[in-house]
Order: sequence, then C-alpha cells, then structure tokens
Amino acid sequence: MNIILLGPPGAGKGTQARKLVDERGMIQLSTGDMLREARTSGTEMGKRVAAIMDAGELVTDEIVIGLIEEKIQGDNGGGFIFDGFPRTLGQADALGDLLAKYKQHLDHVIEMRVDDTALVNRIVGRFTCGNCGEVYHKDTKPTKKDGVCDVCGSEDLKHRADDNEESLRTRLMEYYKKTSPLIGYYYANGKLSSVNGLAEIDKVASSIAAILD
Ligand code: AP5
Repeated sequence: MNIILLGPPGAGKGTQARKLVDERGMIQLSTGDMLREARTSGTEMGKRVAAIMDAGELVTDEIVIGLIEEKIQGDNGGGFIFDGFPRTLGQADALGDLLAKYKQHLDHVIEMRVDDTALVNRIVGRFTCGNCGEVYHKDTKPTKKDGVCDVCGSEDLKHRADDNEESLRTRLMEYYKKTSPLIGYYYANGKLSSVNGLAEIDKVASSIAAILD
C-alpha cells in the first residue's frame, strides 16, 4: 500500500510516518530528509539546496522528482509513505507517471488538518535525534531522560536550521500557494481522506489506521 501524508509544516507528517514504519514495516520517503542529507554533501548543489531550505522556499521540482525516482525503483516492502512529497501540482503529476512506470499504485492521500496557530509552537519546540531521526517536542513529546534519545541513546539532539518563526512564515506561504491545491487534486482523484492533526499523537495514528484498514 502506497500513501501520501499531506499537510503544512509541523502538521505531524514525519511523526506519523515513523509510527507507520515501526508498526507496519512501511518505507518512509521524506524529501525533506533526503534534501537535508544532500546539503551536508558540501557540493555546489548541496549549498544551493541549503540556502533554499533555510529560507523556507521550495527546492525545484526537477531535483525532488529525481530523488524520489531513485527510491521507488526497488522493493516497496510494506508500501511507501510519501512524506512532504508531492508539494506542487507538477510533482503530483510526476508522481503519477513514476508510479505507473514502476507498476505501483497510489492507495490513499491523507490530509492532516491543523490550525495554523498551533504550528508555530510545534515548530519552535521541535528537536530531532541527529543519529536515528526520532522527532521530539519540548512539551508534547519530550525525551524520557533529558538530552538523550529514547530510541537509540544518542545525545546528538538538535533543532533544524529552518525551525524559526521567520522561515515558518515563508514555508506556510509556500504551502498555501503551491501545495494546498493538491487537496482538491486528490479529492477529484478519489484518493483523499482527512484526519484531525490537532488530536494527540496516538489518536491521530488511530484515525490514520482506520483509513488504511
Ligand atoms: P520537510 O522536512 O518536509 O518539512 P515540512 O513539510 O515543513 O514539515 P515538517 O518536517 O516541518 O513537519 P511535519 O509535518 O513532519 O511535523 P513533525 O512530525 O516533525 O521540508 C523542509 C524543506 O525541504 C522545505 O521547506 C523545502 O525547502 C524542502 N522540501 C522538502 N520537500 C520538498 C519538495 N517535495 N519539493 C520542494 N522542496 C521540498 O511534527 C512537528 C512537531 O510537532 C514535532 O515536535 C512533533 O513532536 C510535534 N507533534 C507532531 N504531532 C503532534 C500531535 N498530534 N500533537 C502534538 N504535537 C505533535
């Protein structure tokens, strides 16, 4: 089963994707994570990507479509979770073409509905494990032991460079201008379901499970 998690920055896409990986053996394809990896490469392309991400703007369709094509050619295990992709109508069309090319199928698009005012707090309070990628929040999902990742024991806990109010404003604007039209696109395709992303993490997970099952 292949699904898309759709929602603005901080909606909880990464948090729910990681639960689906653990619970269902699905494969998370986060273009944000792939781009963060690319920016550490030190290449000219990596530097350009870093500047775009830090400003909160979108990287070109060509780059992200290329990254996704590399990943979906192999075994899809328990299914792919597209997290943060597609983000434009061009990317959505390209994903449809790629799935057809590799004889895959899109089963569900899950829109995570949230209130914009909740997003600032979520983004500003977020930190992640630099080793395993587990996502935390200082209020709603703190580590059990201060400064130590619950999952892998690493002390490399960090904030993302684009997790500040100024960058978030641009990211939200990009979302409403370029990504939110995908809600209508997938509704018209008959693939769209919505969940309340403001509920507690486990309740959001149950709503998603009800759709997938
Ligand atoms: P990306 O990494 O995809 O970031 P994003 O879409 O802005 O989404 P986030 O990762 O910020 O949020 P999330 O929804 O995953 O929330 P999370 O689960 O972490 O993209 C970053 C950048 O890369 C883009 O700005 C762009 O430049 C570039 N990019 C990426 N993909 C691209 C593409 N396809 N095309 C072009 N450019 C692209 O949760 C947030 C916080 O809230 C956490 O602290 C979490 O613990 C907490 N939380 C989660 N759920 C709940 C809940 N239910 N209740 C309470 N707290 C919760």
